[in-house]
Amino acid sequence: MATAVLGMQWGDEGKGKIVHLLARDADIVVRFNGGTNAGHTLIDRGVKFGTHLIPAGAFYPRTVSVLAGGMVIDLSVLREEFEAISDHLGSRPRLFIADNAHLVLPYHRIIERIGGTGRLIGTTGQGIGPAYRDKAARVGIRAGDLLEPDLLIERIDRRLSLLRLTYPDSAEIAEMTGNGLAESLLADAEPFLSSIGDAPRFVSDGLSAGKEVLFEGAQGALLDLDYGTYPYVTSSSTTFSGLRSAVGIPTAEVAERIGVVKGYSTRVGAGPFPTELTDEVGALLRDRGGEYGVTTGRSRRCGWIDLVALRYAGELNDPSAIALTKLDVLTGFEELKVCVAYRLDGRTVERFPRSAAELDRSVPVYQSLPGWEESIAGARTFDDLPVEARNYVELIEEGCGAPAGLISVGPAPEETIVRL
Ligand code: IMP
Repeated sequence: MATAVLGMQWGDEGKGKIVHLLARDADIVVRFNGGTNAGHTLIDRGVKFGTHLIPAGAFYPRTVSVLAGGMVIDLSVLREEFEAISDHLGSRPRLFIADNAHLVLPYHRIIERIGGTGRLIGTTGQGIGPAYRDKAARVGIRAGDLLEPDLLIERIDRRLSLLRLTYPDSAEIAEMTGNGLAESLLADAEPFLSSIGDAPRFVSDGLSAGKEVLFEGAQGALLDLDYGTYPYVTSSSTTFSGLRSAVGIPTAEVAERIGVVKGYSTRVGAGPFPTELTDEVGALLRDRGGEYGVTTGRSRRCGWIDLVALRYAGELNDPSAIALTKLDVLTGFEELKVCVAYRLDGRTVERFPRSAAELDRSVPVYQSLPGWEESIAGARTFDDLPVEARNYVELIEEGCGAPAGLISVGPAPEETIVRL
């Protein structure tokens, strides 16, 4: 059976904890988009990890973790994460790397720094946009190229000669050579070279053999390159359609789709965010929720939950259940607000606007709910929650059109209400 875990907001929904929890029962865990821009926080046997690339399956010795074709991989970071998890486990994680996954090379970060769009959008500076641009321009370097070192050097040299024409003033690019870059890529890739291959075949063979496959999404629906708040988006497909194109399996195979929804909204970087709170309530959410980027350390913008945006994310991902995260962060608020519609140009709208400019002009219409005072960290069943928390969860379930199969009431794996 296959299960997908997908972000329903602007990323940082707490997917790390959820995939880590579900990966326990998986034979194969497949990450299908993004690169080191993602930061998944999880606690494994009491040790806190902030991973960027390696799928959560790496924490379970019997599970194979696949880095699929929709990803862009920075091998030096992968190597670091691989070694840190190997030390933690006392054995090496089992990885499978798609031969058609693209690699992030050192020049991608340089281009992002000097190119300018990074500042406009507030990107993570990880070379993500330039790596996906190379993929679309058909000048990218792929994991499979590592298996043919002579061709690898030739391809990097060809790319460098074009880059020197585009960025004639960059001393860093001028100094790079195909030989030098290939050598460091191959050194970083050394533990993985025998694990590079046909990932779609590996996954579909696994499914045919009855294996449990878990798909791990990165970022969230509203950052999707095609369906997000363009241009304030990432460069990959973060929704269910991204999973399909990265892994190429029929929709019917993924029966369970878990949309991860944080109990409030956050966004990092630039772009419209109707429910943003720039007052002390926003600051309180940030402090209590520890809303600082895993990748960049930046403060996240915080605000109330937005059902207009979540309904839209629900249309994109069609979740069979949601995982509601960080509900405990809302303890102690006298009043909780839920955005149920927008006022846009004198009208009340319930559909998420198509353009970032319209979204920017949208003013939230809120429904208020009473909060709760008592700690919910010990709740293990829905009925353990105070009635105010149950009402809040039910309103979100209604908005997303899916039941809350998981409710997270603390960072540790056991601090979860499981109703799947
Ligand atoms: P990029 O993915 O680094 O190109 O950044 C594009 C936009 O997506 C920026 O606003 C980033 O802050 C945002 N972004 C990218 N990855 C994540 C993530 O994992 N969580 C939250 N925001 C992200």
